[in-house]
Amino acid sequence: MASPTLISDTEAWKDLKAHVEEIKKTHLRDLMSDADRCKSMTVEFDKVLLDYSRQRVTLKTMDKLFKLAEAAHLKEKIERMYSGEHINSTENRSVLHVALRGSRDYVMLSDGKNVIPEVWKVLDKIQEFSERVRNGSWVGATGKALKDVVAIGIGGSFLGPLFVHTALQTGAIESARGRQLRFLANVDPIDVARNITGLNPETTLVVVVSKTFTTAETMLNARTLREWISAALGPSAVAKHMVAVSTNLTLVEKFGIDPNNAFAFWDWVGGRYSVCSAVGVLPLSLQYGFSVVEQFLMGASYIDQHFFNAPYEENIPVLLGLLSIWNVSFLGHPARAILPYSQALEKFAPHIQQVSMESNGKGVSIDGVPLPFEAGEIDFGEPGTNGQHSFYQLIHQGRVIPCDFIGIVRSQQPVYLKGEVVSNHDELMSNFFAQPDALAYGKTPEQLHKENVPPHLIPHKTFSGNRPSLSLLLPSLNAYNIGQLLAIYEHRIAVEGFVWGINSFDQWGVELGKSLATQVRKQLHASRTKGEPVEGFNFSTTTLLTRYLK
Ligand code: F6P
Repeated sequence: MASPTLISDTEAWKDLKAHVEEIKKTHLRDLMSDADRCKSMTVEFDKVLLDYSRQRVTLKTMDKLFKLAEAAHLKEKIERMYSGEHINSTENRSVLHVALRGSRDYVMLSDGKNVIPEVWKVLDKIQEFSERVRNGSWVGATGKALKDVVAIGIGGSFLGPLFVHTALQTGAIESARGRQLRFLANVDPIDVARNITGLNPETTLVVVVSKTFTTAETMLNARTLREWISAALGPSAVAKHMVAVSTNLTLVEKFGIDPNNAFAFWDWVGGRYSVCSAVGVLPLSLQYGFSVVEQFLMGASYIDQHFFNAPYEENIPVLLGLLSIWNVSFLGHPARAILPYSQALEKFAPHIQQVSMESNGKGVSIDGVPLPFEAGEIDFGEPGTNGQHSFYQLIHQGRVIPCDFIGIVRSQQPVYLKGEVVSNHDELMSNFFAQPDALAYGKTPEQLHKENVPPHLIPHKTFSGNRPSLSLLLPSLNAYNIGQLLAIYEHRIAVEGFVWGINSFDQWGVELGKSLATQVRKQLHASRTKGEPVEGFNFSTTTLLTRYLK
């Protein structure tokens, strides 16, 4: 018998649906008192510790989730991804971002060809180029060394590199001293103004990052900075001050960037999975030096091996993915809060938002069948403890939002103040340890009575608890650990997509808005240059456009 198209048709899915009633009768307060259960819900790999004992699951639930993974052919799908099959079927492409961090001796095939030599050819070129820029042997048009970099890109060509840069920036990496790396993403002219303020074109290198080299925002920003350089230093200066990262080297050349100064990547790298390609490696190597970025790639690569090899029970990305499925599709919690207790990870949630929501925000199965359940999850987050003073109220007493608490054992910037009870990092981490228990246990009216809380305040001060979270503890936040964290989340999102049976690697949902913007752009041009009236839009858009043009 042919296997069912939809995962929701499988016995494993139905079994989990039925199991929800059983779980509804439990409370985390009780589940947490079972030490054996908690022990079995702690997993460690390469010094990364995952504790998922505060999820609303029992060992039976986990067993059923592993059966769901079997029913979804998860292992085979992971293998198909690593073997370069065209699992991105709507774009007829392999999905091989794992090859970007494979060591030189790996063999990873796309269309029968080992891609690892090409990957390393580009990495070697980046190393050579970034060293020349950093040691001053590559100079700008007026002979000055280039100490500042503006990377122009948006979406996947921006968020990943920004996350990694923000995380590394606070690590006091000596090799970054005296250098600046900035990111220009928004087509809003304010973003241009912010990014060039205080920079001298003579000492600035612009890196245009775009997989397609057609993205409207990026290309307009690239033209704007090309003009900024030309106006200050003359048009010939562009050759020394602008380089590109793209899969479309023809358009790079057409734009006026010397193809020798272009860094390639490939259509088997999805934009949101591209931070380990030249998209991230070039700007980050210019800022920190190639050897630091190599550590980042190694951290990711080690997780890639773990994801491929570890059994489900010990596989951190698989466990995380299955727990997300459980929360979204069975317990009915569509959102997830990503809460790193690390200011250095302030751009982690925005990056994961794109990776997750662009990957899994789909309405049909990979075969094009409308899904009878909602796939994808709503990701948001802020570093703790800032978030605690912002939106945690809703998480504690309002809606149930499963939380990822991410903690770091050793701070990048430890501070020990004389006379304080604990170090500043311990103070931060006290909250990391306390919040998951506050969510899980809550506070009962009985406890409040005992504390002599006035009766009229008891309902307001009651915390129902039973709110799921998980804790990820990383040893430190160096380049290697940042690579680990990235790969864990990338693979978690892939697991979710594989189990839901969707294509996590296309993004057709962003196209409609782009084409409607083209129509508006044409109208704005016609109205501004020839005074043409607004035409061809609905009443609302016509009114708004007319008002805007007045
Ligand atoms: O609009 C969405 C998107 O296509 C993302 O997937 C991608 O990362 C981003 O735009 C930028 O695309 P590009 O790198 O081709 O400029």
